[in-house]
Amino acid sequence: MPASRSSAPVRAWFPTHVYCTPLQGGGLARFNTELAHECRQLRDFDAAGRKWCEKNYPGGYTSYASLNTLHTFSSTFAGLEKKLTRHVRAFAKALDMDLRGREIRMTDCWVNIMPETAAHSMHLHPNSFISGTYYVVTPPGCPGLKFEDPRLSSLMAAPPKLAAARDENRLYTTYPAEAGNVILFESWLRHEVAQNRTSEERISISFNYAWS
Ligand code: NI
Repeated sequence: MPASRSSAPVRAWFPTHVYCTPLQGGGLARFNTELAHECRQLRDFDAAGRKWCEKNYPGGYTSYASLNTLHTFSSTFAGLEKKLTRHVRAFAKALDMDLRGREIRMTDCWVNIMPETAAHSMHLHPNSFISGTYYVVTPPGCPGLKFEDPRLSSLMAAPPKLAAARDENRLYTTYPAEAGNVILFESWLRHEVAQNRTSEERISISFNYAWS
């Protein structure tokens, strides 16, 4: 073992990384006002999407099944894509991914509007390598993004965790939703959004990235 490595008997391996930071240094309020306006316009315009949501996203609106390449036909969303791609590159670098001579691209981008009572159950994002969410409108008290330990299904005979377990040893972690923040994670990481118990709409934009 190299001498530089810690001699502590227990060390962490195979960590799960989540990236969370403001989209940019300033001007977020104006940008989010513009985005929120477009998100609500989309909902008004997207009859097929609203119909899909009646069965698949009760109480809420998502353009996931109807308008899911927003970055390709709206200049506002194309602007968001450009800003997000910089963050995705930074995250991939932190993960030591070798993207030399390779391209990354946003493949999907869709809107989620969650009024009171709407929720989004546990899921992951197939066919991409990094996924994430950008927060546009986050009323105080609205639900955050809850991540699940990806090894949960392998913990066959493990005892329960202490109530005071350290953050890195917990089976779930929840990031608060904060307008202006971008959260990135590897697409295999399961996550959910609990029911919105506030009386105001929570608006976010989700996206996937692929490489080639
Ligand atoms: Ni998701």
